Amino acid sequence: MDFLKLIDHHRSIRKYKAKLVPEEILSKILEASLRASSSGNMQTFSIIVTKNKTLKKRLYKLHFEQDMVLQAPLLLTFCSDFHRMRLWLKESQAPDNFDNFMSFMIGAIDAILASQNAALSAENEGLGICYLGTTLANCHKIGKVLNLPENVVPVVGFTMGYPDEEPSLRDRLPLKGVVHYETYNNYAQENIHEIYAEREKNGFERYMSVPHLREKILDSQVKNLAQIYTKIKYTKASHIKYSRTVLDCLKDQNFFNQ
Ligand SMILES: Cc1cc2nc3c(=O)[nH]c(=O)nc-3n(C[C@H](O)[C@H](O)[C@H](O)COP(=O)(O)O)c2cc1C
Repeated sequence: MDFLKLIDHHRSIRKYKAKLVPEEILSKILEASLRASSSGNMQTFSIIVTKNKTLKKRLYKLHFEQDMVLQAPLLLTFCSDFHRMRLWLKESQAPDNFDNFMSFMIGAIDAILASQNAALSAENEGLGICYLGTTLANCHKIGKVLNLPENVVPVVGFTMGYPDEEPSLRDRLPLKGVVHYETYNNYAQENIHEIYAEREKNGFERYMSVPHLREKILDSQVKNLAQIYTKIKYTKASHIKYSRTVLDCLKDQNFFNQ
């Protein structure tokens, strides 16, 4: 597909056919992820490809029981990984400066760039993907299931397989609401609705069309999309909890020696 068409066509896929992804297509997708830019070309990330049903069942629980984890033939987990690099440094008698937060971030950026290359490459092969924010929210437990050594932390993941749905395109904020030329052009509080206008309408309708969310929205007397985001989806308590999970995971995984 034409590259810009491919990008414009993107939508997250949450329902998959049982059809397996041929090995040669999977290899092409994984190779594409390796072509992403990376800090110093160190490629401080690892990709865990999960096909095994027993492992997927365990991961399904940690991904908040999102059905697509069981349904999709493949689950890819992209990790910030300085373990491999540190082994190489040790063998080469090179000083090791990578057991700190900066290193985690470098590996996380590498992993995220690699993941998006893989996502686009998968879509180019007629496959669908859906990212899983639960990868970071449960990074510690997912890391244990995946047998990750020190200095490896899961950052993003996605399900992948042949789509069994054709969802409509989700809206995006307008370009002028996101791009700033030369320096940051701050928003006026009173005009902020202009940027979110389409989102407010589409997003609210979308959540109201999902029966269990509709019930929650009506029960909690939430009145608009912004309130759905922070009273239902991303509450203060949940964000504090997951922040603690990530920080503890970084400490345990030896990424916190300042
Ligand atoms: C880091 C990240 C985490 C996400 N986590 C989830 C998730 O756990 N479950 C889900 O259904 N969608 C998840 N998504 C998909 C987003 O909801 C989706 O990309 C967004 O609503 C825009 O829709 P589109 O991808 O179809 O354009 C995630 C996306 C990203 C980038």
